[in-house]
Amino acid sequence: MSNTKEISRRRTFAIISHPDAGKTTLTEKFLLFGGAIQTAGAVKSNKIKKHATSDFMEIERQRGISVATSVMTFEYQDYLINLLDTPGHKDFAEDTYRTLTAVDSVVLVIDSVNGVEEQTRRLMEVCRMRNTPVIVFINKMDRDGKNRFDLLEEIEKELKIQLHPMTWPINSGKDFKGVYNLDAKSLLLFTANTKANEEDSMFIENLNDSVLNDKIGEKDANTLREDVELIDGVYGKLNSEDYLSGNVAPVFFGSAINNFGVKELLDTFIKVAPKPLDRETSKRVVHVDENKLSGFVFKIHANLDPRHRDRIAFIRVCSGKFERNKYYHHVRLDKDFRFSNPYSFMARSKDIIEDAYPGDVIGLFDTGNFKIGDTLTEGENFYFTGIPSFSPEIFKELVNKDPMKTKQLEKGITQLTDEGVAQLFTQFGGNKKIIGCVGELQFEVIQYRLLHEYGAAAEFRVLPFYKACWLTSNDQKKLEEFLRFKQQNSAEDKDGNPVYLAQSEWFLNTEITNNPDLQFHFTSEIHK
Ligand code: G4P
Repeated sequence: MSNTKEISRRRTFAIISHPDAGKTTLTEKFLLFGGAIQTAGAVKSNKIKKHATSDFMEIERQRGISVATSVMTFEYQDYLINLLDTPGHKDFAEDTYRTLTAVDSVVLVIDSVNGVEEQTRRLMEVCRMRNTPVIVFINKMDRDGKNRFDLLEEIEKELKIQLHPMTWPINSGKDFKGVYNLDAKSLLLFTANTKANEEDSMFIENLNDSVLNDKIGEKDANTLREDVELIDGVYGKLNSEDYLSGNVAPVFFGSAINNFGVKELLDTFIKVAPKPLDRETSKRVVHVDENKLSGFVFKIHANLDPRHRDRIAFIRVCSGKFERNKYYHHVRLDKDFRFSNPYSFMARSKDIIEDAYPGDVIGLFDTGNFKIGDTLTEGENFYFTGIPSFSPEIFKELVNKDPMKTKQLEKGITQLTDEGVAQLFTQFGGNKKIIGCVGELQFEVIQYRLLHEYGAAAEFRVLPFYKACWLTSNDQKKLEEFLRFKQQNSAEDKDGNPVYLAQSEWFLNTEITNNPDLQFHFTSEIHK
């Protein structure tokens, strides 16, 4: 039977932002609209996080950051929305980047006061790499923000994407009066702290109508008329193809905390955002409406429930229908598995499901069989491509503090790196274990988890490396020569791929110049 109906009602996306721009607040408002939660504050007070998703580790609570990616599923109108949350902290950026491989589009939140920030830039780079469709939500309009035209210009320039305003704000800060919906031609007046579905909106087709003056005052009415004329002239109507190809981003203005402008965003999102699409694999394109199941692991999450020592592998379904208790083929292990307790994640709890469709994310109970990038099929052998491993920026040697626990340490570090917490390199000739991370915080997480989950005491010794580059060459002999000659700086990753560890940018550039037969790569796709 065809899954077309189920596929076309699914929207799988992530909200991304620089920390503090309002991602959590916007998530909460989406969930309120979807009826997945009833009270504002449920996300912020960690109720959801505690039960369904992250907050699984002491360190996370201590630091007050959300380390793990969570999935929240809710229905809105006839759509089934899978919202993949991402950690805001930059030390966990790699986790976020991988999550972006499992979504079909993103909503990017920008703080109207701070504009484009460091994490915004990095996240957009990843979206651009994959041509992911983006909708922008400019948040905190209730605060004195940047001039709206300047802000649009800044975003376009810094994020290298063309914008298309869908709503237009009337002032900001204490003078913020609301937004005009350019598409629906309706005026939405700002009132603070409204709940979901209570909106004060009115249709004003002709902006010259004097009712506009009555509503927002003559001065602001005139400014709005001028702004809208200018915007209409420049932008015209949104071309959905431009959005779907990742070239143009629709923009909404609002205030998440006041639940203002959020419904406009959500209503447009379900209309324009892509449904699950076909995907590239190492062998062929997998069509989303094929009957046979395929899916890949983009995240592994340990100890979701602190009372158990289990892991959950998050699988994005790409084709077919996933069914509970049916046997599926684990391509890397060349083994068949069946899953009696597959989870789906509603906002508040995780529930066992009977089936899942393309676009869905399911959690599979795992005792160590899964690695990031693993693929499940109904027998065919292929891997989904484009799941990235990024070049780490901080390197430390893993030192065993308790020789009696060597085995536990080996097991622990293998599993943690399978989860994608960090990357493990082994120095050529020396067997030294080198851990590479993008952030310092990850080392703390590893040390903590090695001790608490595996009973292995370890410490780290700082290494003077600046970057890890994966090496390839058409001339195998030249590559081997280089690795032998640079033994101190050579290692292999977990899959045996050769890696050059550069002490500094200068060394790296020198080696690149001196070795024209070698290619130095800063990212490595888990499967090509
Ligand atoms: P994040 O997930 O992107 O890190 O941001 P989060 O939603 O946690 O929001 C960061 C802060 O910004 C929070 O304040 C939140 O209340 C505030 N905020 C979110 N949306 C708006 C908005 O539209 N207008 C204004 N003025 N503020 C907004 P906080 O003080 O850090 O936390 P809390 O004490 O309010 O929970």
